[in-house]
Amino acid sequence: MSELMHIIYASKATIDFPKDDIVALLEKARNKNESLNVTGMLLFDDGSFLQVLEGEEETVDRLFSEISSDSRHNKIVKIISEAIPERQFNDWTMGYASIIT
Ligand SMILES: Cc1cc2nc3c(=O)[nH]c(=O)nc-3n(C[C@H](O)[C@H](O)[C@H](O)COP(=O)(O)O)c2cc1C
Repeated sequence: MSELMHIIYASKATIDFPKDDIVALLEKARNKNESLNVTGMLLFDDGSFLQVLEGEEETVDRLFSEISSDSRHNKIVKIISEAIPERQFNDWTMGYASIIT
């Protein structure tokens, strides 16, 4: 079995993301993440994303490269990519937080 790891990255939305579009993205992401046994969280604020993806190394690497080629965002900066002893978001196939001030 490959090692547990997480990737944390930041990116910029290339399109407007009204609430309905975020909900649709999350619904799809949660279904797929569940099937891949990937957990994590997504933060969206004022056109910027921050996402944590955690799971088996190969799976997370593959998913991250799929997400990276999604044209709905760009300027993707990988902040952390490392092995982890345990998941931080065990209960979340993709938790979501929006900062609305
Ligand atoms: C900011 C952002 C975060 C995303 N996060 C996920 C994710 O956690 N899981 C996922 O499956 N897709 C995520 N996606 C969507 C993927 O980029 C891609 O559309 C999806 O994996 C395609 O799945 P499919 O080829 O199986 O239809 C995200 C897209 C964006 C723009």
